[in-house]
Amino acid sequence: MEPTYNLDSIIRNSLTQDLLRFTTAGSVDDGKSTLIGRLLHDSKNIYEDHLSSLEKDSRTAGRDEIDFAMLTDGLKAEREQGITIDVAYRHFSTPKRRFIIADTPGHEQYTRNMVTGASTANLAIILIDAKNGVLTQSKRHGFIASLLGIPHLVVAVNKMDLVDYSEDVFNSIVDEYTAFCAKLSPRDVVFIPMSAFYGDNVVVHSPNMPWYDGSPLLSHLENVHIASDQNLIDFRFPVQYVLRPNQDFRGFCGTVASGVVRVGEEVVVLPSGRVTRVERILTAGQDVEIAFPPQSIAVCLADEIDISRGDMIAHPANVPWLASEVEALLIWMDTQPLNLNRRYVIKHTTKTVRGRISTLKYKIDPNTLSRQSTDTLHLNDIGRIELQLLKPVLCDEYTTNRHTGSFIVIDPDTNFTVAAGMVIDRSHTYQRAAAGSMTAKQKNLTPHIGHVTAQERRRLFGHRPVTIWMTGLSGSGKSTLAYAVEKRLTEDGHACFVLDGDNVRHGLNRDLGFSADDRFENIRRVAEVARLMNESGLIVIASFISPYRADRANACRIIGESSFSEVYVNASLEACEKRDPKRLYAKARRGEIADFTGISAPYEPPEQPDLAIDSENETLEHNVAAILAYLKRAGFTS
Ligand code: ADX
Repeated sequence: MEPTYNLDSIIRNSLTQDLLRFTTAGSVDDGKSTLIGRLLHDSKNIYEDHLSSLEKDSRTAGRDEIDFAMLTDGLKAEREQGITIDVAYRHFSTPKRRFIIADTPGHEQYTRNMVTGASTANLAIILIDAKNGVLTQSKRHGFIASLLGIPHLVVAVNKMDLVDYSEDVFNSIVDEYTAFCAKLSPRDVVFIPMSAFYGDNVVVHSPNMPWYDGSPLLSHLENVHIASDQNLIDFRFPVQYVLRPNQDFRGFCGTVASGVVRVGEEVVVLPSGRVTRVERILTAGQDVEIAFPPQSIAVCLADEIDISRGDMIAHPANVPWLASEVEALLIWMDTQPLNLNRRYVIKHTTKTVRGRISTLKYKIDPNTLSRQSTDTLHLNDIGRIELQLLKPVLCDEYTTNRHTGSFIVIDPDTNFTVAAGMVIDRSHTYQRAAAGSMTAKQKNLTPHIGHVTAQERRRLFGHRPVTIWMTGLSGSGKSTLAYAVEKRLTEDGHACFVLDGDNVRHGLNRDLGFSADDRFENIRRVAEVARLMNESGLIVIASFISPYRADRANACRIIGESSFSEVYVNASLEACEKRDPKRLYAKARRGEIADFTGISAPYEPPEQPDLAIDSENETLEHNVAAILAYLKRAGFTS
């Protein structure tokens, strides 16, 4: 029997206990250095000798209080000696947790600060000077933290001593910033009033602000719930190097970027698409049964497969995308602006490839979050771009995977990291990595990548390919609507094609009936065909009862979320039965057809369709127009 593990608790425990990584956003003027210094000191993390020299320096500078900025500024000087290191990691710990702060020197470098380790950062502290209130810069920090998907935000309203510890001042900053955050993706935001200089609410509760009943910063950092921050669903293991100490051992080493892997599981090696099994997993020299992020592991596989740095191991049914054109948001971090004519070096997981930013679509104003046209990006600007790579990378969308969805851009002359990118839309330009569901029978297949890009096809056809997936009861009017939409789209010059249940079941799926299993297979095959047709550039209108939610979700996975639009063609069972165009309801009622949807088999309506059509009460013309309008609105046609 297979051993059972209480996987969830093992992983969750290990993730909660361990480690909180955070970054700070704010300039020296906002009190960033003072805050870090204060945290280290008050949590007893500064060595005594450091401290006495600090006291001496502060006195020399004519101050009674210790100036903690001097502590971090001193470290800054050390850092500046190292040319290539532009980020320092500060470690400290309390009995409850270990902490790592990513910190960069310099006023302008807050983006670098946040971006550094963004894929692993749990939390960002945004400093707001109570005296100055919410500035554009404060919004920019919040926006970047949101883009980076940093799960927890602390807004440290600092220098409360300079506003007489006023609750009103604090509340108005909270109100203004909360209103701004509402426009960003939802996240955990906590406001703490403090004075880092005097230590108010940094480690201990401040007697100067009795009206504040939240936690001081350190206890918040110690207790914030981080166990759910990791993606434990999509297993991605970018191979860093191959370990071969002797003939009998070959281990592939790296850090688990996301998901969970177990000994004995089937895995696929990408981009080759070879499927094999996990034979052993080692971490810190010991055999383990399971591994999860961010563990560093060595994996031994059952078959001899050629694997090198930059390859990725995943589960066969859940693979990343192979993309040589990537659409992304880019945060520019260099004083030299973006040059669209230049080749840059792109580092993505363990892979380094050359590439070019081929299109700059717009930049985003952090204040209003509106789009502005531009021909370059300057320091701290955020823009939407298209990246062209000389070799494809295996990526996911950043929102689902902060590791495989991010990349950095390096200037090949200076070796300086000039930008950080987040993959935002992989659907229509990207191909699924080598046959995600390769089985043992398909072991010796090598997928090919053609020379015609999805972008070229888009230009050729004048639309973004999509599968309009119509689901609804038999007799709800799906086919009539599908063929009417096909006619209208064709008249407008779009290449499109209807895949219809009755037709497909005469050919490709003639071997299938109407049991739940057969319907699953019906939908799966149709989805694969729709995907191929979308890849070739066509708009597909699929008209299938597809009564099971799980089957439609599978179709969506196969086709790709961003090119799958679910349209619910809704007419009541009574109306469909009354129409009964094929006299099938009557037969089903007489018991002459088994598993008939609505009568003797279930129909599960979509919970959140992209579009719902009322085919019982609206006219055909109205419904065709609704679908055409939807296609425009969603950006598939123009
Ligand atoms: S699906 O459930 O697998 O999506 P599909 O859309 O391909 O079904 O085929 C549905 C068509 O098959 C119906 O429009 C009807 O003409 C015919 N049909 C025959 N038997 C059944 C049945 N038992 N249930 C539903 N449709 C049936």
